Amino acid sequence: MRHHTTFRQLEIFEAIARHSSFTRASEELYLTQPTVSMQMKKLTDNVGAPLVELVGKKVYLTEEGRELAQASREIFAILDRYAMSVARRQGLEKGRLRLMAITTASYFAPRLLGDFSKLQPGIEVTLRVTNKGQVLASMADNLDDLYLLGTPPKEIDVVATPIMDNPIVVLAAPDHPFAKAKKLSLQDLATQPWVMREAGSGTRTAIEGVFAEQGLSVRPRLELGSNEAVKQAILAGLGISAISSHALTLHQPGQFAVLNAEGFPIHRHWYAVYPAGRQISVVAQAFLDFLLSQRNSAASFTLDNGAYWGGKTMQDVPA
Ligand code: PGA
Repeated sequence: MRHHTTFRQLEIFEAIARHSSFTRASEELYLTQPTVSMQMKKLTDNVGAPLVELVGKKVYLTEEGRELAQASREIFAILDRYAMSVARRQGLEKGRLRLMAITTASYFAPRLLGDFSKLQPGIEVTLRVTNKGQVLASMADNLDDLYLLGTPPKEIDVVATPIMDNPIVVLAAPDHPFAKAKKLSLQDLATQPWVMREAGSGTRTAIEGVFAEQGLSVRPRLELGSNEAVKQAILAGLGISAISSHALTLHQPGQFAVLNAEGFPIHRHWYAVYPAGRQISVVAQAFLDFLLSQRNSAASFTLDNGAYWGGKTMQDVPA
C-alpha cells in the first residue's frame, strides 16, 4: 500500500475517523464530499480491506480502520516534530528577540540577555527598559516578544512565568539607629520617615500591603520615581525604604544596612510575561527556557555578588 497511499488520503481518513462523519471531515479539510469519497475509495483499494462501515449515516471503523487511524496519527505526530525541529534550528540561527523590562528589572535583565546571547550568537536581541505605563501599552499593541516585570498586569490577559525570586528588603543608612537592631517590628518601622517610590510602583504596592495587613501605614517623606534616587535618599539620611535586593547587587558590602524587620523580606517574583493567546516565537520560547534553566543560578547570583550589607548576608535575613 505504501507506493500508492498519499498523505492526503491518510489526512482525510484520520479526520473521518475522528469525526465519525464524511461530512464533518470534508468541512474540516475544505474539500467536497465527492473528493473525500473518491480518496477514501482509493485508500480502501490500497489497503485491500474495508476501513469503515456505514450504518445509516454513522461511520464505524473496522479493525483495519482503527489501526490505520492510529498509524496515521503517529505518522503526523512524527512529521510535526520534524517540522518543529527544522523551524527551531532556522529560528535560532537568525532569529530576533525583542524584550521589554520594567526599570527595576534592569538590574538583572542585561546580564541574563548577555549570557543568552553568548549561547545563541546568531540571535539579534533588543532590550528596552521603561516604566509600567509603557510596558502595558507595548503589551496591548503586541510590540515585543517578552516582558520582564515584577507585577503581572491585571488589565491584560497574560501568561506569566515566575523566573526568579525578588526579595524586597528594608534598607537604612549604615549609621541609622536601627542598623544594629536585632529584630524590628512593623510598628518600629512605621515610626520612621519613609522614602517611597511613586504611586503605582510594584515595590511600593507590596510595601504598603505588608503594613496594611496589620492596620498600619508608612509616612512617605519623599516620593521618588526610581530605585537609584531612593538609594541616594537613604544614604543622605532622609529616611528608610524597602527595595528589591537586585537593586543592591553593584553596591559595596556595608554601604546599606539591611534591617532585620518583621514582614521582610517580602517574597516576590520576577515574571516573564506575554499576552495570552499569543503564539510566542521559537526564539522567545528558547529565551524563556533559558530563564527557567537559570532559575537556581540566578538566585545564587544575588547571594554571590556582594549581597552582603550591613554585616548580614542574604542567608541571615529572616525568611
Ligand atoms: P517597580 O517594580 O514597579 O517597583 O519598579 C517592578 C514591578 O513590581 O513590576
